[in-house]
Amino acid sequence: MRGLACLFTLAGLAATKSPVDQQPLKTTSKPNIVFILTDDQDAHLDSLSYMPFVQKHLIDKGTHYRSHYCTTSVCCPSRVTLWTGKLAHNTNVTDVNPPYGGYPKFISQGLNENYLPVWLQEAQYNTYYTGKLFNVHTVDNYNSPFPAGFTGNDFLLDPFTYDYLNGTFQRDREPPQSYEGAYSTDVLAQKAYRLLDEAVEAQKPFFLTLAPMAPHCNVFMNGTGLDDHPVFSFSAPIPAPRHEHLFKDVQVPRTPSFNPEQPSGANWIKGLKRQNDTNVEYNDYFYRSRLRALQAVDELVDGIFTRLQDYGILENTYIVYSSDNGYHIGQHRLQPGKSCGYEEDINVPLIIRGPGVAQNATTDIITAHTDLAPTFLQLLDIPLRPDFDGDPIPLTPASIEGAKAERQEHVTVEYWGFAAGEGIYDFDLSAYNNTYKALRIKGTGYNLYYSVWCNNEHELYDMTTDPHQLHNLLSTDNQIDLSSDNILNVSLSKLALRLDSLLLVLKSCKGQACVKPWEALHPGGEVTTLKDALDERYDDFYELEQTTRVHFEECVRGYLLDAEGPQFDPGNSAEGSVFFRDGLPWYEWV
Ligand SMILES: *[C@@H]1O[C@H](CO)[C@@H](O)[C@H](O)[C@H]1NC(C)=O
Ligand SMILES: *[C@@H]1O[C@H](CO)[C@@H](O)[C@H](O)[C@H]1NC(C)=O
Ligand SMILES: *[C@@H]1O[C@H](CO)[C@@H](O)[C@H](O)[C@H]1NC(C)=O
Ligand SMILES: *[C@@H]1O[C@H](CO)[C@@H](O)[C@H](O)[C@H]1NC(C)=O
Ligand SMILES: *[C@@H]1O[C@H](CO)[C@@H](O)[C@H](O)[C@H]1NC(C)=O
Ligand SMILES: *[C@@H]1O[C@H](CO)[C@@H](O)[C@H](O)[C@H]1NC(C)=O
Ligand SMILES: *[C@@H]1O[C@H](CO)[C@@H](O)[C@H](O)[C@H]1NC(C)=O
Repeated sequence: MRGLACLFTLAGLAATKSPVDQQPLKTTSKPNIVFILTDDQDAHLDSLSYMPFVQKHLIDKGTHYRSHYCTTSVCCPSRVTLWTGKLAHNTNVTDVNPPYGGYPKFISQGLNENYLPVWLQEAQYNTYYTGKLFNVHTVDNYNSPFPAGFTGNDFLLDPFTYDYLNGTFQRDREPPQSYEGAYSTDVLAQKAYRLLDEAVEAQKPFFLTLAPMAPHCNVFMNGTGLDDHPVFSFSAPIPAPRHEHLFKDVQVPRTPSFNPEQPSGANWIKGLKRQNDTNVEYNDYFYRSRLRALQAVDELVDGIFTRLQDYGILENTYIVYSSDNGYHIGQHRLQPGKSCGYEEDINVPLIIRGPGVAQNATTDIITAHTDLAPTFLQLLDIPLRPDFDGDPIPLTPASIEGAKAERQEHVTVEYWGFAAGEGIYDFDLSAYNNTYKALRIKGTGYNLYYSVWCNNEHELYDMTTDPHQLHNLLSTDNQIDLSSDNILNVSLSKLALRLDSLLLVLKSCKGQACVKPWEALHPGGEVTTLKDALDERYDDFYELEQTTRVHFEECVRGYLLDAEGPQFDPGNSAEGSVFFRDGLPWYEWV
């Protein structure tokens, strides 16, 4: 039991060039969309391999976007991004709880009038939803106001959202109803099928979202959990009894970053101690529990496909499968959780099946949660909104091929506040300073992760040679010569300054500047990739003119401008702030 301030996580214009090519095959009537959104499902701990129906119906019959990313690795901010098409710094829903996040913050930011379900209804789509919407959407505030934009809903409500054996659901405008003793995902499946029946009976095109909370950890709240100091406890996810015997010998994949001998990462992560055998054993059990809890989700996927088929609407329906954020268990010595910028936490499943979408295909083009709302609107032939921070995801083989050359190569990653350990061991209070800005970038000849933490530590990983992010090239611990060690034939310091200028644009971007950030730096359009920017003709520009560097004034738990350090301002680039490497200004180490 812990008594912490409510910790309770709930959590293309791609190829603008050829919009015609972008369009999936037209169907005779308007298509439907079924969106399946799991909670905390990883793309790196093999969870999809344990879901045979996801394999059969989605991966074998659709396109798997292997380089799909969330932009803020925790439930509520990520879900708000997903439903608005905006980065968290543009929604200012940056946490799972008030004052910086949760359902109350979504409401106070005016987003309840301005998000996907509302836009879909305005375009004559029927909208249905069952499962978790946002954190701190509770048995007390569910009707003040009701979430806008739904034709039919059956939401899971806090503080029972993460209680696998005591879900509370709230249908349409009715009061909440408790399902004590029933298995939450199975209750949700029944609700999903009923909503599908309703949608089909209405004889209108529909958008149906199924948001089970598996494989999130189980959270038990003593009391309502809604007072100032709720008492709650985290434990491994609870499977349905029919699945509890499965995967007895399965363990967390022992990749090089699993509980490594040497510390890794930066800031509080670098200070984590190696886990002992008892802790590792528990984490393996936690891992198996996630896989078991996902089995009921897998059955739900089969149930939905069977019904879509029986109704004769499968061929006219897009089915999209994703998760709000990823998950780590033991990598970098971390206890089970999310909230970090490492690949396990930000790279998430995305599989799309539907008319015109290639079957049994994979792609590595870069896509992010900011792209989903634009994708849905484009699929349904609804005009895009000018303030989207993302672009529609290309869906046809031809548009994916075109995107390889045209599409952005970066992902904006941002985080504010704390990182919770969701197992039973070592809750680290220094994880309250888990505020950082980062970018992930993959292009021809490079594959990098760059971050700046609120204590101004920097990270740079060359993921071509270091896919598990174990060697921070900007840590002073490892005696790397930044002036000579190189990637793409340029020194690390030259590379880091380019990345820093890019990150400065991304941390403060709005709208299309988030998609085409190089244009902010090079308005002439002559630079569209990192490779272009590395040309030596821009050395003076990046090293002498763009001297404003990403840094923080202090570590705080929300998006407070005073703490955020400089914002990108094309008219005022020579502010003269410096780029620190573990406290040393950049000009002392370049
Ligand atoms: C999917 O493609 C792979 C090769 O790319 C092939 O081995 C496999 O049989 C295909 N599966 C289906 C269901 O078509
Ligand atoms: C289950 O949830 C209901 C509220 O929906 C609550 O009244 C009840 O105490 C809960 N039961 C347990 C065992 O937590
Ligand atoms: C819940 O809280 C009450 C009163 O604070 C306490 O007596 C009880 O033991 C707690 N129950 C659990 C399961 O922790
Ligand atoms: C193993 O580590 C956990 C977490 O730090 C600690 O609570 C436990 O006492 C340790 N067990 C042993 C046997 O050292
Ligand atoms: C968090 O960072 C602030 C500086 O911004 C520092 O004063 C504080 O000690 C840090 N807290 C922890 C728990 O490390
Ligand atoms: C790097 O330099 C080497 C030798 O100078 C050259 O062969 C190679 O093509 C260069 N690579 C890139 C990516 O420019
Ligand atoms: C974001 O929200 C917080 C909490 O309401 C507020 O203090 C802060 O000023 C807001 N940030 C911006 C940039 O508007």
